[in-house]
Amino acid sequence: MYTKEIEITLLQLAKDLLGKLQQKETIQDLDSTLENLRRVIIYNDWRYYVQSDPVLSDYEYDQLFAWLKELETANPDKVSADSPTQRVALGISKNFPTVQHLVPMLSLENSYNADDLNDWDRKAREISGLTDIEYCIEPKFDGASISLIYENDKLTRGATRGDGVSGEDITANIRQIRSIPLSAHFAAHGIQSIEIRGEVLINKNTFKAYNDQRAADNLPPLANPRNAASGSLRMVDPREVAKRGLEAFLYHMSYHVMDDGKTEPQEIKTHSNTLQLLASLGFRSPAKEMKVVKGIQAVIDYVLEFEKERDNLPYEIDGMVIKVNDYALQDKLGMTTHHPRWAMAYKFKARQATSKLRRVEFQVGRTGSVTPVAKIDPVPIGGVTVGSISLFNEDVVKEKDLKIGDTVLVERAGDVIPYIVKSLADLRDGTEEEIKFPTECPVCNEPLFKPEGESVWRCINLMCEAQVVERMIHFVSKDAMDIRSLGESNVRKFYGLGLMKDIPGIYKIDFAQLEKLEGFGKKSLTNLQSAIEQSKTQPLHRLIFGLGIRYVGETTAKTLANAVNHLLDLKDWTEEQLLALEDIGPKVAGSINQFFHLDDSIHMLQELEALGLNLKSTKADHPGGGNLDGQTFLFTGTLNKLKRNDAEAMVEQQGGKILSGVSSKLNFLIVGDDAGSKLEKAKKINTIRILSEDEFLNLIQSQAPVTES
Ligand code: IVH
Repeated sequence: MYTKEIEITLLQLAKDLLGKLQQKETIQDLDSTLENLRRVIIYNDWRYYVQSDPVLSDYEYDQLFAWLKELETANPDKVSADSPTQRVALGISKNFPTVQHLVPMLSLENSYNADDLNDWDRKAREISGLTDIEYCIEPKFDGASISLIYENDKLTRGATRGDGVSGEDITANIRQIRSIPLSAHFAAHGIQSIEIRGEVLINKNTFKAYNDQRAADNLPPLANPRNAASGSLRMVDPREVAKRGLEAFLYHMSYHVMDDGKTEPQEIKTHSNTLQLLASLGFRSPAKEMKVVKGIQAVIDYVLEFEKERDNLPYEIDGMVIKVNDYALQDKLGMTTHHPRWAMAYKFKARQATSKLRRVEFQVGRTGSVTPVAKIDPVPIGGVTVGSISLFNEDVVKEKDLKIGDTVLVERAGDVIPYIVKSLADLRDGTEEEIKFPTECPVCNEPLFKPEGESVWRCINLMCEAQVVERMIHFVSKDAMDIRSLGESNVRKFYGLGLMKDIPGIYKIDFAQLEKLEGFGKKSLTNLQSAIEQSKTQPLHRLIFGLGIRYVGETTAKTLANAVNHLLDLKDWTEEQLLALEDIGPKVAGSINQFFHLDDSIHMLQELEALGLNLKSTKADHPGGGNLDGQTFLFTGTLNKLKRNDAEAMVEQQGGKILSGVSSKLNFLIVGDDAGSKLEKAKKINTIRILSEDEFLNLIQSQAPVTES
């Protein structure tokens, strides 16, 4: 796509543009500035999204992008559809029109072992009369298939596979995928219009981060990256699609018209050439991952070798695709009604299995949520035996139409937790039973409630044994009070034996009783005792987080710890006061308010204080500190003298608070090298004081308590 010389030219161009921007030079030639900005941005998009190796810093990129946008806004007649600013579509479409594919999108025949591949190769050799066929092998991407049309070098349509004959027009969403170029120079190869196929994916890390966020929002996780990718492609708002971090591999040319009107490929004679051509035009194709070999044995060797790497790839693949490399030979082999004869999918070891759903248990969590858990006949899937599967909530059970006694299809993809894909309703014999949701808590028998707008049933009895135990487990956990020797199994054991009945009970354990227990030596008891003792001095935010108040994560816990002098102050706070704190919304404020207005909570906190726990805020923990009391700080750019973490800790030690973004609530922005958009934004708010690293150090030192020498 880019020769070394062109890359060097583009880098120089980027430097020149950045220089001009810094000098605030007036533009001599608008057209060439626009063109240069677009070329540089498109080039960096390719380095970033296709090569995973950007050449500009985020800040430099953002500056150039903002400049281009500014120029285009001032000169709307100069905006071109393939300008990088035009990915971000404005309209929201409620439904996607159906469009015909130029060529039906066939599926591939599957093979599972060497015998299948040998059979396929034998037939191909018979038809072709060749002794050794050249094959191209590439990953079988486990995502959502798409088809793209480029006309006169411009992306004009993107569609889902649909039923293979027609799909949905999702052009606006496709334009959000940064590894798909909005224009590509097909004309250089005499191609006037072309339909290409590929797969849209979400990489494993992006998927995990997304599910972590859903869990924090009390939503059931998306089943797997494949579903996440296809769901994302069909979202109504393209701006949301842009946030999902979709990626795309393009691997097939289905149809093209040449400048001379011919549809026959000319210079491109093999599939591997196509992959290289796509890569050279700026697409992400499996050109690096593919391998061209002669004869089926080499194919078998490569697919087995590649399968070992499966878990190390950043994205999911479910097998390999083997294609006859030579297009003339592909034509000769032709296709059946369903599959091309020149291609074969080799499927990796199944990560799916079927099993019987025997019963559903209902587990009560720390906040009283009642989660249905399917108990199935244990089955091995991808090297792990699966017997229990969370069903998340009633809606999931209904949506999947599950019944006790059903045969269910279970999937466990890579690091993803196992889930039930569907029940095989055709196999029912009439003995299956409905799954009944309890109306009472399975542990304490109190009635369950389902708050409006939520899909989770809850036990609201705070004294429910299940919740009490789960709360204790959370309280001692690593990110809360960190009482290491008292893990989940000991909490359950001590509770079961009546040695510890609630959180304050942790500090009242009768060690004489523990000595009598089997498996608890003197040394481990001394360790346990000192770990419990040490936890009493944990900073207040850890205690708050440990209380397990619904929606109160570590960040909110810190906000609260900084907002009060003593934890019990919160019993006099109103919801409005809570809402005034940074990052606390109505849902969180309501939950905190509820907790601090319950007598039981207040008694427990008073008891904990009487037992010696620290309920005073961090400010009060550092006598002499607190000089930056209530002041808010944000760091941006690279600091030279301090590590970012240390600088933030210095602020917190003196009672200041770190914010996550620039807003009118910010008091100080500390600016390091290469500061970016945060600085620009802060300059527009005149109440924010902007300090250099040295000025910050001066401020900290002048505020620091005078230490006695
Ligand atoms: S080639 C006519 N290559 O697998 C051949 N397909 O069952 C067109 N897939 O619907 C398909 N990776 O979504 C091809 N490297 C790859 C693939 C691939 C994944 C999907 C594709 C297709 C399905 C076939």
